[in-house]
Amino acid sequence: MLRYSIVALLVLLESVGGFLLSENRHVVASIKVENGGTFGVWHQVEYCPSSTYAVGYAIKVEQRLGSGDDTALNGITLICRTRNGTVSGGSVASGIGRFGSWYDPMYCSQGQVMMQFDLKVEQPLGSDGDDTSANDVMFRCDSFETRTGAASDLHAEGGTGWGDWSPAWSKACPEHSAICGIQTNVEPFLGSDGDDTSLNDVKFSCCDD
Ligand SMILES: *[C@@H]1O[C@H](CO)[C@@H](O)[C@H](O)[C@H]1NC(C)=O
Repeated sequence: MLRYSIVALLVLLESVGGFLLSENRHVVASIKVENGGTFGVWHQVEYCPSSTYAVGYAIKVEQRLGSGDDTALNGITLICRTRNGTVSGGSVASGIGRFGSWYDPMYCSQGQVMMQFDLKVEQPLGSDGDDTSANDVMFRCDSFETRTGAASDLHAEGGTGWGDWSPAWSKACPEHSAICGIQTNVEPFLGSDGDDTSLNDVKFSCCDD
């Protein structure tokens, strides 16, 4: 009996270990902005596969409805690739709201990685307003090794017009690192009576491995 328990425990540990290993990135920083909404819940961090970094992204957005309950930004997906550009790591997303549709991705130029971001957020409107929280997101691309000061902005299509960009961009990932993980704050669907906002806030992890 004890023997079987030990075997079962080992099998369990191995599967947990394997799971952790597949996401076992070396995180050197977490970057965030100060204007994120707070209506949602934080979902789990999702990481690009080992040795890959964010080099592009796409957003899921519900465009202006007219008379309906607007939610604006609903999801962000990171497109992962090795630094040398030869191997795709697929794409990763954290929590995603149920409304809207995905827009076309946009990519850093070859040899650059995503290392900083800004978020456009509509602050709470009070009891009469139709809140949307996050509306748009954009990034900066730079070389992995150094922050050159010649970073280029990356702004994929689809964002909606409510709210304001955070006055200060997030911190940049430290030199010799880049965005490798995403964690979103998403308001669960409230049902027909609620004022849904979907995506409220986002943080990114920077990795050096
Ligand atoms: C590109 O990078 C990956 C991951 O670091 C590596 O496995 C692969 O061999 C590299 N390919 C080339 C052509 O350098």
